[in-house]
Amino acid sequence: MKLCVIGTGYVGLVGAAIFADWGNFVVGVDIDSEKIERIKKGEMPIYEPGLSDIVLKNISQGRLTFTTSIAEGIKDSEIVFVCVGTPQSDTGAADLSAVWEVAREIGKNMNGYKVIVTKSTVPIGTNEKVKAIVKENLPDPSIEFDVVSNPEFLREGSSVEDMKSPDRTVVGSDSERALAIMRRLYEHLNSPIVECDLRSAEMIKYASNGFLATKISFINEIAQICERSGADVSVVAKGMGLDRRIGPAFLNAGIGYGGSCFPKDVAALYKTSTDQDYDFKLLRGVMEVNIAQREHFMNKVLRHFGKNLSGRTFAVLGLAFKGNTDDIRDSVAIEIVKRLRGLGAVLKVYDPQAMYNAKQALGAVNIEYCLDKYETMPGADALFILTEWKEFGLLELDKVKSFLKSPVIFDGRNLLDKEKVENLGFTYFAVGKRTNGLVKIDTRNLYQTVLLNTNGSIGHH
Ligand code: UDX
Repeated sequence: MKLCVIGTGYVGLVGAAIFADWGNFVVGVDIDSEKIERIKKGEMPIYEPGLSDIVLKNISQGRLTFTTSIAEGIKDSEIVFVCVGTPQSDTGAADLSAVWEVAREIGKNMNGYKVIVTKSTVPIGTNEKVKAIVKENLPDPSIEFDVVSNPEFLREGSSVEDMKSPDRTVVGSDSERALAIMRRLYEHLNSPIVECDLRSAEMIKYASNGFLATKISFINEIAQICERSGADVSVVAKGMGLDRRIGPAFLNAGIGYGGSCFPKDVAALYKTSTDQDYDFKLLRGVMEVNIAQREHFMNKVLRHFGKNLSGRTFAVLGLAFKGNTDDIRDSVAIEIVKRLRGLGAVLKVYDPQAMYNAKQALGAVNIEYCLDKYETMPGADALFILTEWKEFGLLELDKVKSFLKSPVIFDGRNLLDKEKVENLGFTYFAVGKRTNGLVKIDTRNLYQTVLLNTNGSIGHH
């Protein structure tokens, strides 16, 4: 099939590459000509395992080309994918200006029947508006077209795999003609295709991300109770996850979720709810808990070191918003580094992929960028683990202990084995696990609080 993919960010570039790899002829479009030139040379604008090989292979086999012109991109295409960014605006809603602009350009350049497919994450009703904009801009009102909502669920760091073998594909449209074309594109996949109306497709994307964020905030609240009551959240999550109705994924307690999707999508879904005169209470809680989680982590640091951190040096492992990516957008790790620096600390930082992006965001003041994880440690007052890179869980702890000035670890991702670390004499602050002898809470009081909250009266036990 002949396809056009507009936007070469995570979704667009990975999409274009995989569609081409399936044997289709794909034109990728982006207004950024420098980016296009770099991609053509195999220099990926993002770190994504496996992506550059697939892009180069398909360019050399003639199935993948790039242009900066929408007119040229869509000319021979049967399907046009819209994969432009929808960042968060000041109101919390998604900023759709790029989508509207692309819709206008597509409309003006239509030269025959095409299916226009939105892959960008867009709020309910957006595809109907895309349809109206394209229609208004058609050079000839008799040109036919259809609009489809086909949200993308890929995760950064494993997006090539996610795109090749998704759990499901959602295709929303009111046109049987368009659905038949989309079926052809996806027919070889071994997973279910959910065909539905436009609005439900748009909602599936937000509801899925909202639910995953809810799982994270849920386990983070369980972690709070575990810390106070002496349970271990990692064990609790394992025990819960084995129930097939719950599942083990997205139950890792930590410093909260970040990235380019969850914070913005959860806020946008909440905004949609209030726009519809409904207060999505649970989601409000999810966002509050997510912010509280990093505050709670910072409080542990301040309780241990005091509020003035000048003269302190900390080793920091992890700057990306999660492991296997170079992306630092809305990274809680970056946020925490900024807070520590703001309180006077000097940070020696390392991330396997996000160093370049981190340098742009953090600058040079009081930050030393290290080439290796152990290089961050000599003379440091504590080690911070802020991103869930697998290699940080495999640290040689004897080495770590010999390098650090004082054996203190703040593990924001629960990557280390508490017992092992403590047996080696470290003071270990994790999330949802009690720290050796430091945080002691009177569980009798906790029980009283619970009773007070549920019955309104204090029972004494
Ligand atoms: C997410 C969705 O998973 C994907 O389907 C959607 O298309 C885009 O948004 P992504 O942003 O790449 O993907 O990251 P994801 O792996 O979902 O992680 C998001 C954040 O949650 C990260 O900051 C991660 O550290 C955090 N997280 C994840 C946890 O804190 N605990 C977990 O158990 C899982």
